[in-house]
Amino acid sequence: MRGLKLCSVALTALVSLTACEGSDPGEARDPAAPADSVPEEVASVLDLPGTPYSYAGVTLPAHFNTPLVRDMDNTPSDNPLTDEGATLGRVLFYDAALSANRTVACASCHIQEQAFSDNLKLSEGFDGGLTGRNTMPMIDSRYYRNGRFFWDERADTLEEQVLMPIQNEVEMGLTLDELVERVSAAPYAPYLFEQAFGDEQVTSDRISKALAQFVRAIVSYRSRFDDGVPKGLATVVPPGITHHSEAADAVRKAFGEAGIGPRDVSLVELQDNTVYYELAFPEEWGFCQPGESESLLERGETTPTGTLPINPSGGFLCFGEATTAMGVFQVCELAWQLRGQAGGRQVPGAKVGLAQTLGLGANATAVVLER
Ligand code: HEC
Repeated sequence: MRGLKLCSVALTALVSLTACEGSDPGEARDPAAPADSVPEEVASVLDLPGTPYSYAGVTLPAHFNTPLVRDMDNTPSDNPLTDEGATLGRVLFYDAALSANRTVACASCHIQEQAFSDNLKLSEGFDGGLTGRNTMPMIDSRYYRNGRFFWDERADTLEEQVLMPIQNEVEMGLTLDELVERVSAAPYAPYLFEQAFGDEQVTSDRISKALAQFVRAIVSYRSRFDDGVPKGLATVVPPGITHHSEAADAVRKAFGEAGIGPRDVSLVELQDNTVYYELAFPEEWGFCQPGESESLLERGETTPTGTLPINPSGGFLCFGEATTAMGVFQVCELAWQLRGQAGGRQVPGAKVGLAQTLGLGANATAVVLER
């Protein structure tokens, strides 16, 4: 049997990819000892902590707080992430009662150890039928700007998507009425719905909201990449020849030809097809001290009215693709900025602008424009 029994769900296991506990070890609770607040009928089927884990209050690294990434967050205003909502969503996610014959849960196909996917070409539904497509992983679903889901993007929102596998004839095979009936009968329902939504009422809308919150809480922010990017780039990027020496060289040569230095520059349009560049380049080009760009970003100094405006155009997100044409767009933006014609993006008093692109095969460009 491939279904997961609810009582065997290890809800206390730390989901290493999931924002599920505060980073301060002092906040760690002993999950084996549920506080009195969890009623007996719930504690007898679920190993829940007395105070829910922190899903909403997790501090993400600085590179998640760049405008580029923040702009991709598809959390709707009527379903903000809460600790109680994500807890309910997590319980529902592992509950096989959400399928017609109680054998399949969301977690049967979306397996945490396998990036919330499985290693199969097609997955088996509740009655042995196969899904029409490959199961998708569920990491960083929150950061997808158009907010659409499934391979063909047929779900307009995550809230809409999470109810679809439940009603799918192969996957879980329930109607929404049956779903509400099943969930209402679960011993945990009155307590967890009250915690999440203020009263015990079970509706398909609430089920969808809670599941969507849990899915949005699954964010990968502790990979080795994440560790390396923001913290003190000086210790990661060795002095001298850097990974981006060709970009730094181009910028240095452009400065040389123009007879200026980093301090003279009013704004920078730089290659930002990874957020790493937004943090690394200003340091590598001498615009700030090694390790300083993170705090500049946090203080808002990289916005058009800050001390080091970076990509007032909106950068890669607005250009759409890091093609050669990106350099042309960048130079356009510099021209508008220096003429004071950049509207709401205007950098006050812009005099000198730097544009930089990075291509394949050490092919980097830098352009300095002066008013
Ligand atoms: C029988 C296996 C199976 C079950 C059970 C299942 N899924 Fe899926 N899931 C899939 C498959 C297959 C896809 C891709 C389907 C498609 O694109 O047509 C998918 C796609 C998704 C996606 C889209 C991801 C993206 O990036 O677009 C999300 C989110 C998701 N499932 C969540 C859930 C939730 C929540 C549940 C439980 C209510 C669930 N799934 C139950 C197999 C399953």
